[in-house]
Amino acid sequence: MQANQVKPTNIFTMDKARIVRFYDLTRDVRFFQVRPYTLDMAYMMDYRPGQFMMVSIPGVGEAPFSISSTPSRPGLFEFGIRKMGVLTEKLFELKESSFIWIRGPYGNGFPIEKMKGHNLIIVMGGLGAVPLRSLLLFALDNREDFGDIYLLYGARTPDDMLFRDEYLSMKQRDDVKVLLTVDSDPTGVWSEDIGVVTNLFSRIKGIDPEMTYVAVCGPPVMYKYVIKELIKMEIPKHQILMSLERRMKCGVGKCGHCAIGYIYTCIDGPVFTYWDVIHMKELI
Ligand code: FES
Repeated sequence: MQANQVKPTNIFTMDKARIVRFYDLTRDVRFFQVRPYTLDMAYMMDYRPGQFMMVSIPGVGEAPFSISSTPSRPGLFEFGIRKMGVLTEKLFELKESSFIWIRGPYGNGFPIEKMKGHNLIIVMGGLGAVPLRSLLLFALDNREDFGDIYLLYGARTPDDMLFRDEYLSMKQRDDVKVLLTVDSDPTGVWSEDIGVVTNLFSRIKGIDPEMTYVAVCGPPVMYKYVIKELIKMEIPKHQILMSLERRMKCGVGKCGHCAIGYIYTCIDGPVFTYWDVIHMKELI
């Protein structure tokens, strides 16, 4: 296959991929770096931040996982996967260079073209750090396309914070404002904030709400409080974007597992605006 060919369009096509690297992000979340089996295929698999892939092990199962890498660094897919079932237990047993199968990318992802030219506030909690890392890295790799960039991340403890060292080192940069907080600090060495993520909003200064997009992903309980802050800041509702999780099976709008009314999270989402959520409260 030549590098300038496009990926086959069968939506169910699975590709063999190799785990090239992994390490633990927390006690039960592992970072996986995966490369499609052939280099040509690796460079053909374009995607946008906010999309997901179906990952499978033959004879074990298949599940959707948010992509955590950025398309601006092509050739590899990165995932942050929590151990929580038969498939993920098996994934955690695999060694580097093991093969898995992937298909996708699926889902709408973030509307990058509309977001360009705007400020960007990224608000993450828990596993929400996985899909939003893709958006953050993409924006930093295309820094001139965005105004001010803020990262607000709340975790339970420092040891529960995914990509903690990566975000702590980002604090050295002067083109992104990184604000990290934890509910509590059993380590006793945490030098960042302690408290809920909404406490950090008072540190966002001087941005024009009309010129700002906000991306939010975290546990369901977080949205209510974060959205309250964003409404107070007068961020337009269609510029508040939420990446929402839903039980998915086929990933391509065929099985109905992810359906809420007429909406299929796998194809209409997983990224929704606050307007969508107002009209369909069951989304959160
Ligand atoms: S996951 Fe099958 S329809 Fe959405």
